Amino acid sequence: MASSITIRAERPGDAATITDIVRRAYADVPYSDHREHLMIDRLRETDAYLPSLSLLAEIGGEPVGHILLTKAAVVGDGRVVTTLALAPLSVVPEFQRRGVGTQLVGAVHERAAALGFESVLLVGIPNYYAQFGYEPLRCYPIALPFEAPAENCMIFELWPGALDGVAGRVRYADGWLDH
Ligand SMILES: CC(C)(COP(=O)(O)OP(=O)(O)OC[C@H]1O[C@@H](n2cnc3c(N)ncnc32)[C@H](O)[C@@H]1OP(=O)(O)O)[C@@H](O)C(=O)NCCC(=O)NCCS
Repeated sequence: MASSITIRAERPGDAATITDIVRRAYADVPYSDHREHLMIDRLRETDAYLPSLSLLAEIGGEPVGHILLTKAAVVGDGRVVTTLALAPLSVVPEFQRRGVGTQLVGAVHERAAALGFESVLLVGIPNYYAQFGYEPLRCYPIALPFEAPAENCMIFELWPGALDGVAGRVRYADGWLDH
């Protein structure tokens, strides 16, 4: 089943397709504000948006999933370290639990590492991301700029030791927050 999943980077003209995937994926998610697609559109207008880290998953040519990493930073004492923020990750309901999300996460990690990025952070479902090696953010001296339950805040090193010495507060791209 997993072998029939194709992963590709966003191309010009994909915005409406991505909106559709994201809206369908989050439609019945109780904690969703159903505005995830609007965040993507805001971010697309910023320097933080890298089309090569906006990936679509297709099965039989049908778009069924999407993942986005955008540039963010950890701002510490006299040091600004680039990181990536993962959000959102979306698989349409009819194609969930077939490994699409797993392939999207793996592919985006690979591409981000190849581009020289060092880490990825997120606020998400704890039980899902731990399987990919995400660790609780509280293991690091890194704080989010807003309140969030500790178990939902996670970070991943794209290579071992990437976060050594990194400390400070996360600064998201303009457009990441809804206000
Ligand atoms: C969460 C989501 C991205 C997972 O994608 P997916 O393609 O269905 O997941 P995968 O097939 O890669 O799952 C692999 C494993 O992760 C675990 N898993 C899957 N969905 C999970 C969930 N919602 N919570 C916890 N663990 C989950 C399971 O162990 C699964 O293996 P199994 O199917 O053999 O039991 C998808 O369900 C989705 O889009 N949900 C709605 C939007 C959302 O909540 N996005 C994430 C916000 S942080």
